Amino acid sequence: MRYLGSKTLLLNEISQIITSCAVEGTFCDPFGGIGTVGSCMKKQGYKVITGDILNFAHYFQIALIQLDAPMEFAAIKKKFLFKDNSEIEKYMNTLIASKGWLIEEYAMKRQFFTLENARHIQGCINCIEKWKEKNILDEQEYKVLLASLIQSFDKIANTAGTYYAYLKKYYRKALQPFCFELLQPIKGKRGCCSFLMDAAKLIEISNYDILYLDPPYNERRYGKYYHLPETIAIGENPCPMGKSGVSTPYEICSKFNKKNQASDEFEKIIRMARAKYIIFHYTDKGLISTNTVRDILSAKGHVDEFYFDSKGYHTTKKTDECQHHIFRVIV
Ligand SMILES: C[S@@+](CC[C@H](N)C(=O)[O-])C[C@H]1O[C@@H](n2cnc3c(N)ncnc32)[C@H](O)[C@@H]1O
Repeated sequence: MRYLGSKTLLLNEISQIITSCAVEGTFCDPFGGIGTVGSCMKKQGYKVITGDILNFAHYFQIALIQLDAPMEFAAIKKKFLFKDNSEIEKYMNTLIASKGWLIEEYAMKRQFFTLENARHIQGCINCIEKWKEKNILDEQEYKVLLASLIQSFDKIANTAGTYYAYLKKYYRKALQPFCFELLQPIKGKRGCCSFLMDAAKLIEISNYDILYLDPPYNERRYGKYYHLPETIAIGENPCPMGKSGVSTPYEICSKFNKKNQASDEFEKIIRMARAKYIIFHYTDKGLISTNTVRDILSAKGHVDEFYFDSKGYHTTKKTDECQHHIFRVIV
């Protein structure tokens, strides 16, 4: 899924910095997003613990990081006589709803999806919610189905990346047919865990070998930019407003999105952190000034700094064009 602030293009560089600290142990990513960095570290054999405050991001983390094997879906298989999970995928792809909130609000009033794709997505939402009501899905199966649905529809959403706006004309990808596919857990170390939790709490409750911190660096709230995946994850009918269809009553806000709170919150989590190594991934253009970051981190241990451009190239130019500034603290 396309995700604001995703580190997909920088995974090699992040991974090198992490392995320079320790090649095994616990790796905690409390601002884990949809699990991109956590998945990479799980593959490399770390025991990964992730968190996020958004429900849909948490569901991705469960599906990719916490699970060691695909879900059984035993009750569904029994009821429909499905032999394996691919038959669940096939079944989901036959579902079509004639009406519903997603069709009306996000295809007819706002062109986030073609009408045909919206009918399929609505069909899947209705089915997952019905299975949950009838207790033929357990909590984790429900979360995996919803994360898989969100991942599947993101591929054909008529957006430039986030759900804050849709494109004026249906673009090439949005005209492709919707296809439901189950997310598969990443193979790696067993016993990884994911939490729907504020980063401060996850940092407070345990000690970790490596703490990787990748908070938002500006005022763009993830809950607003990903309102539609989040609405579906919380299982509520939305009250969409304006052109973007943001459902206003529901807005999670992070202190890292607020100029007057970000530095204090950062100081608080670094003070509480019990880790051997801290990796802080930020930018010189962020709400917390670079000098403040240096002051706070150097109170904790020895700090090394690395700059990368958006394609992941190492750079020595410490200017505004350098988007990624990674600090490694040996505590
Ligand atoms: C820059 S993104 C992380 C991107 C991720 N590393 C990736 O590669 O996809 C920041 C994430 O932090 C989450 N977040 C913001 N404030 C938070 C908080 N106080 N506690 C936990 N997560 C938070 C956001 O919901 C978002 O998913």
